[in-house]
Amino acid sequence: MAPQFHNTRFDDNHLLYSQQFQDHYYSRHDGRAECRHVFLDGNDLPQRWCNQHHFTIGELGFGTGLNFLVTWHLWRQMRGPGQQLTFHSVEGYPLDVDTARRSLSQWTEPAQFVDLAESLLAVWDEISDPLQIDAQTTLHVHHQLVEKALPGFLPTNAWFLDGFAPAKNPDMWSLQVMQLVAAHTVPGGTFASYTAAGWVRRNLTDAGFEVAKRPGFASKRDMIAGVLR
Ligand SMILES: C[S@@+](CC[C@H](N)C(=O)[O-])C[C@H]1O[C@@H](n2cnc3c(N)ncnc32)[C@H](O)[C@@H]1O
Repeated sequence: MAPQFHNTRFDDNHLLYSQQFQDHYYSRHDGRAECRHVFLDGNDLPQRWCNQHHFTIGELGFGTGLNFLVTWHLWRQMRGPGQQLTFHSVEGYPLDVDTARRSLSQWTEPAQFVDLAESLLAVWDEISDPLQIDAQTTLHVHHQLVEKALPGFLPTNAWFLDGFAPAKNPDMWSLQVMQLVAAHTVPGGTFASYTAAGWVRRNLTDAGFEVAKRPGFASKRDMIAGVLR
């Protein structure tokens, strides 16, 4: 089935908003800082990259590619010779490249980040196949609904669980999805998410993760992170 394009608009603060799910794509405070706090710190990155020949990150919800860009930017600063990162993600309702460009254009520094955003946008139509985006980084965005895509995922070291708010996007947080996430996680693999909704924590626990609350980003009191038991 061909993916449907996402029905979006920009709000009064120029932030991307999904009409379909009635939610923003990332924190209204600062999506880039949110990514560092929730997904990178929540998975103990970059520390866990040390001494790993090949590290795989899985994401639920590619959206604008912001989480990938923040990760790629850090990875390029921290990686050692010969290390490889695979970042694979799922996106059932892709954005067109102009919408992604407009959303990412709010970050105008540092120059290296802006250059990486341009590099991603230049290959936007090619990312649905595994793409060697630089010599040590592979990007693969599965343009499918989550339950169809996850069986094709590689064994994953760290997950970024980034659907829209669970109450508005329950399909991204179901027990079945969390079981597929767990089934594609290496022993000792981890996850992090900005939401601490009770039923999401229960689904992750039932799927086999140890789940812990941590301080959330900006106005959010809690987020969650955990490890596969
Ligand atoms: C909060 S946004 C992700 C933001 C993104 N990580 C970023 O860096 O811009 C959630 C994403 O999940 C996608 N999504 C929602 N339900 C889905 C489903 N059932 N299957 C696949 N993707 C889905 C949406 O289209 C949206 O792009």
